[in-house]
Amino acid sequence: MNNHGATGAQVRVALAGVGSVSSSLVQAVELASERAGALPGIMHAEIGGYRLSDLEFVAAFDVDSNKVGADLSKAISISPTVAVAHVDVAPMALAVQCGLLLDGLDGHLSGLIQPHPDCAGVTIEQVSAQLVEVAADVLVCLLPAGSTAAVQAYAGAAALAGVGFVNATPEPVANDPELVRLFEENGAALLGDDLRSHLGATTLHTALIELLRTRSLTITNTYQINIGGNTDFLNLSDARRAAGKVRTKRSALQAAGIDASHVSAGPNGYVEYLGDTKTCFLRLEATSVLGSPLVMDVRLQVEDSPNAAGVLANAVRVAKVARDLSMAGVVDAVCPFLFKNPRTGATESTGLRMFTDFVRTAAARD
Ligand SMILES: NC(=O)c1ccc[n+]([C@@H]2O[C@H](COP(=O)([O-])OP(=O)(O)OC[C@H]3O[C@@H](n4cnc5c(N)ncnc54)[C@H](O)[C@@H]3O)[C@@H](O)[C@H]2O)c1
Repeated sequence: MNNHGATGAQVRVALAGVGSVSSSLVQAVELASERAGALPGIMHAEIGGYRLSDLEFVAAFDVDSNKVGADLSKAISISPTVAVAHVDVAPMALAVQCGLLLDGLDGHLSGLIQPHPDCAGVTIEQVSAQLVEVAADVLVCLLPAGSTAAVQAYAGAAALAGVGFVNATPEPVANDPELVRLFEENGAALLGDDLRSHLGATTLHTALIELLRTRSLTITNTYQINIGGNTDFLNLSDARRAAGKVRTKRSALQAAGIDASHVSAGPNGYVEYLGDTKTCFLRLEATSVLGSPLVMDVRLQVEDSPNAAGVLANAVRVAKVARDLSMAGVVDAVCPFLFKNPRTGATESTGLRMFTDFVRTAAARD
């Protein structure tokens, strides 16, 4: 069964939060549309027959008065977004619309972003109706970390509309039993929580933990320090906004097989001049044969937002496949590989195998 790809069917994507990660995702889709053949960092040319170029943006919600009303192609580069412009995005005839404000701009963002006056009155029912009107397949939630009420409100809107939801934020949605039930009742797929980066600190850290454990080394101490200069890091420099992120990072390390309850692994500093460059320093200390010590220090530098877009390129197409298959509730098979805090964790290699199996099965149905 192939009701897409060759026949031109699309993956109709709505965005909540038009910031740096949205910018990189929109650029990645534009690049995929311009260029045939494999693109670096894109793991699968097709998932369930859908190519990255099959993504079509059909709605975009934000609350920033400078972004609301702007064409999505322009909104993705309006400050304080700092994602690097790698690709010129053609006008899309899609204006950013007022989203649900709630706690989206609490903390440091309140001094940086002026909310559009119309956003305060937007309701869950209005967002839900809009998703139905544009026939969205999936809503990707890219709100600032810590905005629990707003993230959960968008999740509720997607569930009511019967639309798939990808929760890129650390706020609990796939880990919230009430919301999970709402998705199950409404026949909509849910992926989350907290997007992993494609090859970022969490993935590297968990892969190295797994490597040491396969050699029966005992990990005695470890930490992960992350610094960056994008708006996500500015927002996360407020401890109240970062609490969820600290939890999800620990949860990923726990799933890799260590006791992470006291491990320091979080956002550790906002360094404005770094822009979208993120640097991670991680250390692993372990005991090996005869009690001999092993110490590993790694420094990883990446461009943060494209690194997240690479994972969304997978997650969005999985959400569409899940919709085609009428899967309701959390898509547990793919979440350990794509998210830091799935409701059921797995090691790096198990998560990759489960994800690859899902993609293989999706290919077989074509
Ligand atoms: N590598 C990565 O960058 C990465 C990886 C994993 C997870 N994440 C998570 O993805 C999310 C987005 O990251 P980002 O770097 O794009 O953030 P960002 O700060 O660049 O963008 C957030 C956008 O959301 C908008 N917004 C705020 N409140 C809103 C509301 N109530 N409704 C609609 N829009 C609202 C802001 O105006 C802004 O445009 C964050 O939660 C982040 O922690 C990012």
